[in-house]
Amino acid sequence: MGDPLHTVLCERLGCRYPVVQTAMGWVATPALVAASCEAGAFGFLAGAVMTPVELKAAIAAVKAATDRPFGVNFHMFQPGAEEIVELVIAEKVRAVSFGRGPDAAMIARFRRAGIICMPTVGALKHAVRMAELGCDLVTVQGGEGGGHTGPVATTVLLPQVLDAVKVPVVAAGGFADGRGLAAALAYGAVGVAMGTRFLLTKESPAPDAVKARYLEASPEQIQVSTKVDGIPQRMIRNRLLDRIERAGALGRWIRALAAGQAMQRATGASLGELWRAAQAMAREGHMSLPQALMAASAPTLIQKAVVGGDPDGGLMASGQVAGRIADLPSCRELVDRIATDARERLAALSAGRAAAA
Ligand SMILES: Cc1cc2nc3c(=O)[nH]c(=O)nc-3n(C[C@H](O)[C@H](O)[C@H](O)COP(=O)(O)O)c2cc1C
Repeated sequence: MGDPLHTVLCERLGCRYPVVQTAMGWVATPALVAASCEAGAFGFLAGAVMTPVELKAAIAAVKAATDRPFGVNFHMFQPGAEEIVELVIAEKVRAVSFGRGPDAAMIARFRRAGIICMPTVGALKHAVRMAELGCDLVTVQGGEGGGHTGPVATTVLLPQVLDAVKVPVVAAGGFADGRGLAAALAYGAVGVAMGTRFLLTKESPAPDAVKARYLEASPEQIQVSTKVDGIPQRMIRNRLLDRIERAGALGRWIRALAAGQAMQRATGASLGELWRAAQAMAREGHMSLPQALMAASAPTLIQKAVVGGDPDGGLMASGQVAGRIADLPSCRELVDRIATDARERLAALSAGRAAAA
């Protein structure tokens, strides 16, 4: 019998286990990506919050730390998006992940360059659309997932998408252990993708005090808000989120402009670039301009809390699964444990079936 953990995902991405470390703004640094890849998973760099110059340096840093293949996350509305596309193609990274953005022509261009296109979707219609546009795989993120997220739980969305598309599907949203991987494979997915679980590892750049806040949070405290940028986003409830939830229209504009300025300082983008990014997001995402400005800038607020070490003054994007995570393993310990536990679960299931037959 073949190895149940050697799936088509491993073949396409060149990783040992069918486990993806997803991109997280400011968190998926070269150190975390290299550690994930060395451990046998497949890591994505958080390119969506980098300038082209920073991304080039980050790609070089991953390549210096590991020979394993890795991917880059980006979106078409970020300042410098076109340069990032050229860079990713020139650097021949193994895969790209994105939400909305690239059209069929760009996806075809990536694929001609041998780069796997692996979007993350939170709704059935987006999964179908991405498959139609020619993507190689889709990552389906259920509503329990961290960061921007949809309203449908993984247990409902995953089988819905599996029934609707022919491309291989990776399951995301709420996964943290080997039981989850075994369950995802049982559904028919080719692997799992995890954000929050990798945020809570030794190699993640979040300061210890911030990691402690994640470990303390209960699932009930990890809620979805639409007030940050108009799109549902799952975060740990904290002081800033409470303020944003209570703010009126004027407060939202003030906050959006302040967040825009912070984003400008963090990324070096010009006011014009930021404004154009916000306008494009407003058009594409059917949002108001202050919402789009917040959407363009929200990663900076995540940076302030998650890597800047200010768990009350910024936003702590998190999957609900943080509410059941209690330790900070190294990436290697984590991935080894997931593989061992998944194998045990799968073996126990097939032994049970044999006994019943
Ligand atoms: C702190 C944090 C930052 C994130 N930043 C991004 C990002 O920049 N780009 C992106 O596509 N997804 C981002 N996400 C979503 C994750 O990549 C992933 O899809 C999600 O965390 C999966 O759900 P899980 O946390 O339950 O594993 C972020 C998630 C978290 C927790």
